Amino acid sequence: MKDVVLWTGAGQIGMAIARRIGFGKKIIVGDKNQDNAKAIAKIMEEAGFDVVHVETDISSRESILNLIAEGQKYGEITTLINAAGVSPSQAPIETILKVDLYGTAVLLEEVGKVIAPRGVGITISSQSGYRMPQLGVEIDEQLAMTPTEELLSLEVLRSENIKDTLHAYQMAKRCNVKRVMFESIRWGEKDARINSISPGIIVTPLAIDEFNGPRGEFYKNMFASCPAGRPGTADEVANVAELLMMQQGAFITGSDFLIDGGATASYFYGPLRPAE
Ligand SMILES: NC(=O)c1ccc[n+]([C@@H]2O[C@H](COP(=O)([O-])OP(=O)(O)OC[C@H]3O[C@@H](n4cnc5c(N)ncnc54)[C@H](O)[C@@H]3O)[C@@H](O)[C@H]2O)c1
Repeated sequence: MKDVVLWTGAGQIGMAIARRIGFGKKIIVGDKNQDNAKAIAKIMEEAGFDVVHVETDISSRESILNLIAEGQKYGEITTLINAAGVSPSQAPIETILKVDLYGTAVLLEEVGKVIAPRGVGITISSQSGYRMPQLGVEIDEQLAMTPTEELLSLEVLRSENIKDTLHAYQMAKRCNVKRVMFESIRWGEKDARINSISPGIIVTPLAIDEFNGPRGEFYKNMFASCPAGRPGTADEVANVAELLMMQQGAFITGSDFLIDGGATASYFYGPLRPAE
């Protein structure tokens, strides 16, 4: 038997993290897109990792339970990497909420039930969640603590209250951070930790879809005008993930880490500030 890593979202960010922490373990990669999962499993296998791929849709509890059951065939689940998601240019409002918001919440809940002692998890949120006004104590608490099956019925997430796909994505990512806080209490009862990372623009197929989408110019200006003056790489996100997942991060749980080249700082107090 081996320690098992459950990894959802066979994209660049997920792979960069899996390569840092997945050696010597059984890695189960789940993706809705089997071509992505197969291709990335092959790259990992050829680099010496032990990977199996499973068709997984994180917006379905049944599919998540199936992924967990697959993992349990090989040993104890010690690690979760959730890097599955859809961006504002890739999907309609309902899909973004179902995958990025509800799916993430269910995944953290279900893996939290089976995570091994001293296990660790990471979920990828986004700087987008930082680009909204504060929602207030009451709504924050609803996003954090509402039972997963009731989440999408919250007033604040009703279709008439969501302006567009970007707003849906921002709400999903804000919710991810709140859910991580809430779940860190339950994961802690198992002596396990869970954190999130909020990347800025990281060059991946998802970001390239955004560069070519309706907000392409906006995104290109965002990285050109941020303090770093460039987009980031998945490997830099993995630098943060590695710290959070290793023993050096043992005192960190229930937290979110922004890694955006300073774009959020510039959005509030610098050249990226929206015109009044
Ligand atoms: N790239 C960026 O600039 C950026 C910035 C901030 C946050 N993020 C977040 O990082 C995460 C990973 O994105 P990435 O940039 O590595 O993208 P990516 O396109 O390389 O990978 C995302 C993967 O998620 C999969 N996926 C989509 N819906 C799914 C579902 N319902 N169930 C299972 N898998 C599903 C896709 O098929 C794809 O393989 C996402 O949550 C994204 O919102 C990315």
